[in-house]
Amino acid sequence: MKNYFEKKTRFSNFFCVAGTPIAHSKSPVIHTLFGEGVNLELTYEKVEVSSGCLGVAIEQFKKAGGIGMNVTVPLKEEAFDIADDQSDRAIKAGAANTLCFKDGRIVADNTDGSGIVRDLKLNNSITLEGKTILILGAGGAAKGIIPALIKENPFSIKVSNRTISRAEALVEFTKDYPLEVLEWGKKLSYRPDIVINATSLSLSNDLPAIGSQTIGPGSVVYDMAYTVGPTNFMRFSESLGATQILDGLGMLVEQAAEAFFLWHGIFPDTSSIIEYLRNENSSNA
Ligand code: ATR
Repeated sequence: MKNYFEKKTRFSNFFCVAGTPIAHSKSPVIHTLFGEGVNLELTYEKVEVSSGCLGVAIEQFKKAGGIGMNVTVPLKEEAFDIADDQSDRAIKAGAANTLCFKDGRIVADNTDGSGIVRDLKLNNSITLEGKTILILGAGGAAKGIIPALIKENPFSIKVSNRTISRAEALVEFTKDYPLEVLEWGKKLSYRPDIVINATSLSLSNDLPAIGSQTIGPGSVVYDMAYTVGPTNFMRFSESLGATQILDGLGMLVEQAAEAFFLWHGIFPDTSSIIEYLRNENSSNA
């Protein structure tokens, strides 16, 4: 059995993020900066955990003094299943990204959806109410944000995915809302207000099958990926004349802030951290 926290002594305020791959994760930096901002000493580490191994990692983490854990790809559904209690947000997404260990129970929550909504609304002044939204992708990333987007009362949400059965499964899952499916590569008769790229295409710098009928002047484009420098999808959207083009950095920080709040009861300042990471990114580009 792998020992995930072998060399660790017990920490008094110990947190971690688990997933695979994990080396690139910015969560330790973000949570450490949040802690510094509110004078809270904490230890936050990243640990590589593969599918099927989360239960063992959690037990070892708890023994090492762990209080809260973030989980990322590919463990979000496993985390949801392992938990003893799930928040409404986690139940609606069918996945968890934040675990709290309380009174011997594992409590699962999902802060991804409120992370993207906070980033759109608070950091970028984008209204969602009454808007037409197109989501590209129907994997875990799409599933995690849809419940929070629905709560904002948009005019419509369409989901387009290469494998149509996955988009149809999302419609089935979100049965209290009339989510619509658009065939991958098929043109819409109107240009949506907001296009969210929830596919993993930007991680390999590939583009989704859309063009100027979907994105153009007036469009808000949100790439949930966060890479050093703009993604190809962001560059492509710029060439089509999109009005606002955003990457996933704001969402990353906002979902972390929500997790921080769950664990510590304090909502940290996010704008200074987004700015710090943005500057760090541009100096590395
Ligand atoms: P995540 O949890 O990040 O959403 P995922 O569940 O593996 O990861 O989903 C990846 C998403 O990117 C899916 O919507 C996937 O489409 P499929 O369901 O058809 O696989 C999409 N995606 C990945 N590679 C793609 C490609 N080459 N073309 C189109 N869509 C792609």
